[in-house]
Amino acid sequence: MNEIAKQTLPTFVVEERAQADRAVAAEIEALVRAKPTAALGLATGNTPIGVYAELVRLHREAGLDFSRVVTFNLDEYLGLPLGHPRTFRCWMCDHFFDHVNLAPDNIHMPDAGLPPERAVESCARYEAAIQAAGGLDLLILGIGRNGHIGFNEPGSTRDSRTRIVDLAPLTRADAAATFGSLDEVPKQAITIGVATILDARAIRAMAFGPSKAEIVARTLSAPIGPDLPATFLRQRAHVTLHVDRDAAARIGERNRP
Ligand code: PGA
Repeated sequence: MNEIAKQTLPTFVVEERAQADRAVAAEIEALVRAKPTAALGLATGNTPIGVYAELVRLHREAGLDFSRVVTFNLDEYLGLPLGHPRTFRCWMCDHFFDHVNLAPDNIHMPDAGLPPERAVESCARYEAAIQAAGGLDLLILGIGRNGHIGFNEPGSTRDSRTRIVDLAPLTRADAAATFGSLDEVPKQAITIGVATILDARAIRAMAFGPSKAEIVARTLSAPIGPDLPATFLRQRAHVTLHVDRDAAARIGERNRP
């Protein structure tokens, strides 16, 4: 193992994923109370659902105010029409945006409903908007079963920025149930890059359940590089990984590639 491969990622193992949801939401709460104009990086998918539920609860029951918070989502499918129920925008409305007091102008999603030639320009604009907001204060992240972060699929380099990507077969297969069939899953997406993710001042990565056990173990032990983009998280300070017992089950197994 070389020096880089030894870099570690502080990992918190909890009995129940709800404990991780509450811990990550509490960090976001503390940030937003200290800095009401905080810029958050937001993920979709099964992993962060509980964090959003807890933030909605904190908004309703503890007055957590999102009125000046700025949000940037990590990714969006390319080519789905605006308002399509499987867009990540709709997902975010269902799980978070429609339930808190974010200002609509402060919500940013990659502009993936555009034709491809205009979508390319929109990627640079998205990077610029993140910069204009002062960079991301805290970003939450799931880890895909193939080690993707955002839609930075295997092969994504450390210096990648917001761009159009081809979705990996496993990513599309994992989305097939949600779309109804594999054929309906988009083949491309816009994602913020690995470099954009690692620029965030704090990152809270999460993985839950037995289907993530293998990738969690490899994220912590495989050589850092584009073959497994989640390994890049080990290169930055201020990154923590939150996993439940099932997702932690294979950490530390010997001879893991
Ligand atoms: P999941 O996906 O949260 O739906 O498990 C994580 C990811 O693919 O990034």
